Amino acid sequence: MNPILSVNHLRVSFHTYAGEVKAVRDVSFDLEEGEALAIVGESGCGKSVTAKAVMGLIHGGNTEIKEGSQILYRGEDILKYTPRQMQHYKGGECAIVFQDALASLNPTMRVDRQIMENLMIHKHMSRREAAEEAVHMLKLVGIPDPEKRAREYPHQFSGGMRQRVMIAIAFACAPKILICDEPTTALDVTIQEQILDLIRELQKTHHTSVILITHDLGVVANMARRVLVMYSGMVVECGSLEDIFYRPRHPYTWALIRSVPRLDLQNKQSLSNIPGAPPDLLCPPAGCPFCTRCDYCMDICREQMPEVTSFGEGHQAACWLHHPLAPHVEMPDLTEVKA
Ligand SMILES: Nc1ncnc2c1ncn2[C@@H]1O[C@H](COP(=O)(O)OP(=O)(O)OP(=O)(O)O)[C@@H](O)[C@H]1O
Ligand code: SF4
Ligand SMILES: [Mg+2]
Repeated sequence: MNPILSVNHLRVSFHTYAGEVKAVRDVSFDLEEGEALAIVGESGCGKSVTAKAVMGLIHGGNTEIKEGSQILYRGEDILKYTPRQMQHYKGGECAIVFQDALASLNPTMRVDRQIMENLMIHKHMSRREAAEEAVHMLKLVGIPDPEKRAREYPHQFSGGMRQRVMIAIAFACAPKILICDEPTTALDVTIQEQILDLIRELQKTHHTSVILITHDLGVVANMARRVLVMYSGMVVECGSLEDIFYRPRHPYTWALIRSVPRLDLQNKQSLSNIPGAPPDLLCPPAGCPFCTRCDYCMDICREQMPEVTSFGEGHQAACWLHHPLAPHVEMPDLTEVKA
């Protein structure tokens, strides 16, 4: 079956006074219909920029999507869409839920209007039909007393309820792809779980393909079937959930998993305490981006970008350790607790 989305060699730069920030340096992945794919990696590794590019939100100003990048939606490159095709795609075919609902919602517009707008544009509903559907959507995402709340403004909702409103807006036009960029980071644990349950339920019933961006490996374990590990604007490893958690092949993934206090996947785990810092995206190393922090770094790592090695069933890692001429290195014990 053809993937619904195929991102090929995506490269995105920001031109700043300091120079060219190479935020996304070569990202390729497929998203199958109905699947949930997680993107993980430390802050600044290019997760949100990748998500925004897929959503068609990167254009103009100081941004540049490099020649050779492709974002194929059902085989057609969205980077070549006409403005009209793009309008249909955004919201109608692909929708995004950000972490900060308050910043993403229009503070001066009642929430029903914000849902109705999408329905009138994408589903060509009349005002009356759209108003009924808006209430239905608010009910679907679990907002109590939806008829009354539909007429309220974003600031009148709690953080969790606002996130539900965002999900209602995103799902209103039954998009084929839903991108969730840290959708629950700002919420407390109980609300977080409710929101994730809601996304999972809607994903199943609507057969939506989901890209989930998160720092939380517990969320990854509960939501995703496949995982992309990003580092410094690149995908360094990808594979099934089991590949990434139990058979990781890249030293950065090893560090990520070891950096959490316990390998109990039910625990909340954050990707925060790997010693050292990622490279400066203004002048990244010529070779492996992880070479400045990697315990296994060899001369070639600093000089040449590692080749991608496939381990079967879509599991791939970009690391020189898998080259036939590299010394043999055993995967470290990832259950070992770091001091
Ligand atoms: N408008 C911009 N101008 C210049 N640099 C930018 C711009 N937007 C993003 N960047 C840079 O691009 C890089 C990738 O940013 P991105 O927001 O994708 O990171 P992220 O992986 O989502 O991080 P986080 O986990 O903190 O959300 C960062 O180094 C960031 O500083
Ligand atoms: S390519 Fe070299 S520096 Fe990069 S992760 Fe592999 S061993 Fe480490
Ligand atoms: Mg981000």
